[in-house]
Amino acid sequence: MLNKYLKPFPENFLWGASTSAYQVEGANATDGKGPSCQDVKELPAGTASLDICADHYHRYKEDIALMAEMGFKVYRFSIAWTRLLPNGDGEVNQKGIDHYNDVINTCIEYNIEPLVTMFHFDMPDALDQRGSWSNPDSVGWFVNFAKVMFEAFGDRVKYWLTINEQNMLTLVGPIIGTLRIPEGTTNILKETYQQNHHMLVAQAKAMCLCHEMLPNAKIGPAPNISLVYAASCRPEDVLAAQEYNAIRNWLYLDMAVYGVYNNLVWTYLEDNDATPTFAPGDAEALKNAHPDFIGFNYYSTATVQASSPDDDLDPGADQQTARGEAGYYKGYANPYLMKTEFGWEIDPLGFRANMREMYSRYRLPMIVTENGLGAYDTLTEDGKIHDNYRIKYLQEHIKQLRLAISDGVEMMGYCPWSAIDLVSTHEGIRKRYGFIYVDTTDEETGSLDRYRKDSFYWYKKVIATNGEDISD
Ligand code: BG6
Repeated sequence: MLNKYLKPFPENFLWGASTSAYQVEGANATDGKGPSCQDVKELPAGTASLDICADHYHRYKEDIALMAEMGFKVYRFSIAWTRLLPNGDGEVNQKGIDHYNDVINTCIEYNIEPLVTMFHFDMPDALDQRGSWSNPDSVGWFVNFAKVMFEAFGDRVKYWLTINEQNMLTLVGPIIGTLRIPEGTTNILKETYQQNHHMLVAQAKAMCLCHEMLPNAKIGPAPNISLVYAASCRPEDVLAAQEYNAIRNWLYLDMAVYGVYNNLVWTYLEDNDATPTFAPGDAEALKNAHPDFIGFNYYSTATVQASSPDDDLDPGADQQTARGEAGYYKGYANPYLMKTEFGWEIDPLGFRANMREMYSRYRLPMIVTENGLGAYDTLTEDGKIHDNYRIKYLQEHIKQLRLAISDGVEMMGYCPWSAIDLVSTHEGIRKRYGFIYVDTTDEETGSLDRYRKDSFYWYKKVIATNGEDISD
């Protein structure tokens, strides 16, 4: 596309950034909070615990003031289920409600729209003990949690996201510390997709409840979407790319938007004796739910080639490193892409391709709920962080975002990961993403003082010019 006429970012474009409760708040046993699966998981060696993180729980006012200084129009954060309901259901913890009321009110004081993720990788441990997402009751647990949030915060929160990266919970749950497989399970794939089904139904019911209780609110899913390329134009590779696209991406959005299982995924589940059981009413619940928009996280594309059933594939994949399933697809290192220091491919043009593809499939407004560069940052003696590599990454992606808008894709906002440094899912706080530097380490030493990175000043200018000036 020549894109002779570059369209501007929409007038009310939501510029901001994201965090998640368990990665940023710390204070994980404070003010009545119950433990979540993250608090009880075995930590990857050498990574910070989740007791302190960026101590955002105590310092959110300072942090939101810094976000306001950058000019944020939106702040995407998640609500820790176990702050509101320490046991996952049952009694509500008023201190948890008070805390998020304060966070939301602080955002509103600065004219920052709160964008609330309802569930970001932090299942209450008490519910894990009762079978987690394997238990059909999990649908009701989640809907009850949603109701508590809609009642408490629905008068001020207009934008809701249901489940962060449900596709990653399903595909790489063990790396994120979330998947619970009941003892004695013989078909792990079937069990995983049964849990996935419960999440899909829970999401659908929560979306309906939101529309019922809060007619002016908007709600949508937040999967991690990586468009899948074929490693070559060999037809076998193209078919493998279609399969992985369906398994990784379209299953989640076809269900959220159209309320049906993607046919390729259903066939793959049939092949593996892994189709989920529908409870009475599930099909209708899935069909009745309609998101108002799509939130999605984008870090990179994926590339695959065909795989034969006897392929021996590396199981050590995470959210963005190519994985494989023997007989279906096999990850392939894209020779045209550079990698981050942590091995994730960098593909700004793929970001545009991703948005085009999603919009042509679903025709809903979209917001980027994560995108960013995990890197080692250095705090200089005079309190600076020269993260020109992060600026470069974000510049390239924002350029493609504008091109996608010029292609006719309806984009509502951009929330890179992350507003402030926080603990990564499995690689500690040394893998930093924030615009705001937090003085702490994986050994949990440091003052926890905040510093503005070079990217902080750069992003402030981007927002002030509504994306017209992205130069450094
Ligand atoms: C997404 C998650 O997968 O990517 C975030 O929604 C996560 O929680 C982010 O932190 C970056 O991944 P990582 O593994 O580098 O923390």
